[in-house]
Amino acid sequence: MSRKRVAVLISGRGSNMAALIEAAKDKHYPAGIALVMSNRPDAGGLATASEAGIETQVVDHKQFGKDRAAFDTAMQKVLEAYSIELVCLAGFMRLLSSGFVAQWNERMLNIHPALLPAFKGLDTHKRALDASAEVHGATVHFVVPEMDAGPVIVQGAVTVHTDDTEQTLSARVLAVEHRIYPQALRLVSEGRVRVVDGKCLIDGAPVPDATALTPAP
Ligand code: GRF
Repeated sequence: MSRKRVAVLISGRGSNMAALIEAAKDKHYPAGIALVMSNRPDAGGLATASEAGIETQVVDHKQFGKDRAAFDTAMQKVLEAYSIELVCLAGFMRLLSSGFVAQWNERMLNIHPALLPAFKGLDTHKRALDASAEVHGATVHFVVPEMDAGPVIVQGAVTVHTDDTEQTLSARVLAVEHRIYPQALRLVSEGRVRVVDGKCLIDGAPVPDATALTPAP
């Protein structure tokens, strides 16, 4: 089976992008990172990608003012130029238009630093601590027009310690992110994920509920 051509979209440091690049170095991995694209010319991850020999492109959202559709069209053109088949959002901090999302339906993944549907949106680690959550984690899901609401592909959990700070908790969750994103991209690239009634089936079986996960220490 030929490897899927993947674009990773970033806005910042790109540690999840780096985890995907690392996984794809294995020639048996079913996806190759054909492009890293950023909406910010100063995203740290661009240098990391270049050093790894991956092509990079910048589509600077500031050049499009408030015209989200024009920004999305510009990104779409780049994705088409690279014959991209799957898109991975990895710390990509722009909301996408519903037209763009529809174009990539079930072909665009995102990673979110919480066990969705808990803690959608920003500041997830602080909110988990404020809510005295005992278990926290990360989710890879397909992107749908509603933010952080798409079908869950893989989740990974960590135990919240009583002495955790935002920094210590986010570091443990980030380690989980780096494990589950390559895992989810593998499943999707191998064609093992099907969406039925808004939920993913992996090899025909439902994804376990977050409460059923065994959290890492
Ligand atoms: C990660 O925590 C990811 O879950 C969230 O944004 C952060 C990006 O970090 N969507 P990085 O750029 O991958 O290091």
